[in-house]
Amino acid sequence: MSIIYDEKQQLFHLQTRNSSYLMEIEEGGVLAHLYFGEKIDSYHGIRKYPRLERSFSPNVPESKNREISLDTLLQESSSVGNGDFRIPSCQIRLANGNSTVDFRYSSHQIFVGKHEIKGMPQSFVKKSDQAETLKIILEDKNAQVNLELYYTLFKDSSVIARSEKLINKGAEPLFLTKLMSFQIDFPANEFEVMHFEGAWAREQTIMREKIGKGVKLLGSRRGTSSHQENPSFILTSSATTEKSGDVYGFCLVYSGNHETNLEKDQYEQLRVMMGINSFEFDWKLESNEQFQTPEVLMNYTNQGFTDHSLIFHSFMKNHIIRKFPEKERPILINNWEATYFDFTEEKLLHLAEEASHLGIELFVLDDGWFGKRNSDTTSLGDWKVNKQKFPNGLANFSKKISQRGLSFGLWIEPEMVSPESTLYEQHPEWALQVPGKKGVLGRGQYVLDFSQATVRKHIFEQFVAVLDTLDFSYIKWDMNRSLTDVFSTVLPPDKQGTVYHRYVLGLYEFLEMLIKRYPNVLFENCSGGGGRFDAGMLYYMPQTWISDNTDAGARLQIRYGASYFYPINVMGAHVSAIPNHQTGRMISLETRGNVAMSGILGYECDLTKLSPEEKETIKKQISFYKQHRKLIQTGTFYRLSNPFIKNEGAWSFVSPDKSECLLFYFRKTAIASGPINILKLSGLDKKAIYETDQGVAYSGEELMTLGFYMEYYLPGDYASKRVYLKRRGE
Ligand code: GLA
Repeated sequence: MSIIYDEKQQLFHLQTRNSSYLMEIEEGGVLAHLYFGEKIDSYHGIRKYPRLERSFSPNVPESKNREISLDTLLQESSSVGNGDFRIPSCQIRLANGNSTVDFRYSSHQIFVGKHEIKGMPQSFVKKSDQAETLKIILEDKNAQVNLELYYTLFKDSSVIARSEKLINKGAEPLFLTKLMSFQIDFPANEFEVMHFEGAWAREQTIMREKIGKGVKLLGSRRGTSSHQENPSFILTSSATTEKSGDVYGFCLVYSGNHETNLEKDQYEQLRVMMGINSFEFDWKLESNEQFQTPEVLMNYTNQGFTDHSLIFHSFMKNHIIRKFPEKERPILINNWEATYFDFTEEKLLHLAEEASHLGIELFVLDDGWFGKRNSDTTSLGDWKVNKQKFPNGLANFSKKISQRGLSFGLWIEPEMVSPESTLYEQHPEWALQVPGKKGVLGRGQYVLDFSQATVRKHIFEQFVAVLDTLDFSYIKWDMNRSLTDVFSTVLPPDKQGTVYHRYVLGLYEFLEMLIKRYPNVLFENCSGGGGRFDAGMLYYMPQTWISDNTDAGARLQIRYGASYFYPINVMGAHVSAIPNHQTGRMISLETRGNVAMSGILGYECDLTKLSPEEKETIKKQISFYKQHRKLIQTGTFYRLSNPFIKNEGAWSFVSPDKSECLLFYFRKTAIASGPINILKLSGLDKKAIYETDQGVAYSGEELMTLGFYMEYYLPGDYASKRVYLKRRGE
């Protein structure tokens, strides 16, 4: 990694392990973007982006050159009213009502390490010499506003962490209404965008679309990163495959409203930006106050989607996931789909006993343990143990769980309040609500105003009172609705436009306090499944329940989509009952096991109702998983066949030394007289001979080029196959 500033050419060259990023200070001090792509050893600054006088493209006031226009120039940031008519990355309303700002280069600094982004998740380095940062200060002298652009490069990764900070240097307050975390203007190219859309129980659906003229807006206005649009996207070309081609990846380290703008302009240049959603965003900055955006992680590779994903997976493990990035995760039983709200202590203990016999390691008590919670209509906010269900208390119950050889975990939903609760009776003003207006319910509940320190303190104290009495090793943090009535009763009118973001900052502060208090506890993030599955949450919670959809067929796709940015060892995956509770589909226990064990294995069904044969199958699954857990959870993950577009889904896990490979193959619909499928493996040692657990030997080269013939006849829909390969002599 290196950051070079060529003073003569007024040029910045950011060199990562395998990419180059070039910017130059243009006439009039405009910071222009020049290039992001394949690594250049040295750039001499001769080749300028073509200048051309274009009709109706106004010129930069500081220059007499009519070929220089913000309307056509590739830039690193943009604003309003200055001759750039594309979508802006920064919008401000000054005290006098003026919204025209025009940022120009003022100075820059290059320093070892990384600046701290206070109160927000961010990429970290263990030693400061593992990173280098460029800070460029832009200013608008007239408006008295500074804009700082940050670029951090890492020694062990080609990812660039990018963020911005806006500072009000004037005497009057101003209103910031949009500030993206980055902007890049690409020269004309035939780009495609790949993004991960969805809905509840259908997260991470891959959309790959050609980018046409005009503006494309992706994002979330739900207060959370959402099931509907993951805060990550890829720019690529139609020719790119897993193994070759251009891939630009962008991933926001943030858990609230987000927005991605893509604008293909009149000359087919593409403006790309991402950050906090400007929807309802209106942040008042008093004199000398500043606003810091969250970080975007961006990466370029010319080696296709596999390389892109491997870079993001290891970046997440080394620079985002602070807790247990590589620690083996326990196999759990969760009682939710087994009992829903209908349980007694006795019933749960039977479940735990059975789980223990099968080899399960952790018992998770899901929703319904507190207040009068026998349905989803009541008691959120009253975090006191339900004495009817647990007459001897929860501490006593957790002891009984550990006596049965399992560790204990608990479900919580701290951000919520039920209308029928003591908390809401006493403090209706603690919910996000507009005074005098009936609040919009979602799942029968309101959202607490986590922007209020008093609210957070009260909820935190309630949890500590329960958790401090327990012997526990795991928490599942849930969040089950989108934000509405986003109004805080404690903020003045001119600060209501800050509530969405303040809510997220409040959440981060709470999470930081909680993980500090329980440093050895494993936290699993959940928001009705993957409603808040993002790099921001991974900074606090190293595990995520990526979907409420436990159907193995649906999970095949959800997991596949999620793997573009996120490592497999953050994804909880459970075997559940059939007919599946979300889709009604019947899939064999074998395939349900194979899908779930391609992540962090768990079970979420009534184990006491299983037949002896089913119990035997599960025992075998668990012992196989324990044997190969390290390989699955920390090995290199390769996508081999895309279940969104093919009848077959497949992936493999390869150990870092390439001595082991575990291959999973899933065939969706049974086809009579179908084709023979060939699966080409990835990441093996070319010269080595691999032996399969079915007694056949192949060379690594053969497996990666000629491929593996998958069995022609696999009975029934959603059949699957698992093959373990080991390098000969290991
Ligand atoms: C959400 C979660 C589920 C379960 C329920 C409990 O839907 O995603 O896993 O915990 O809440 O109410």
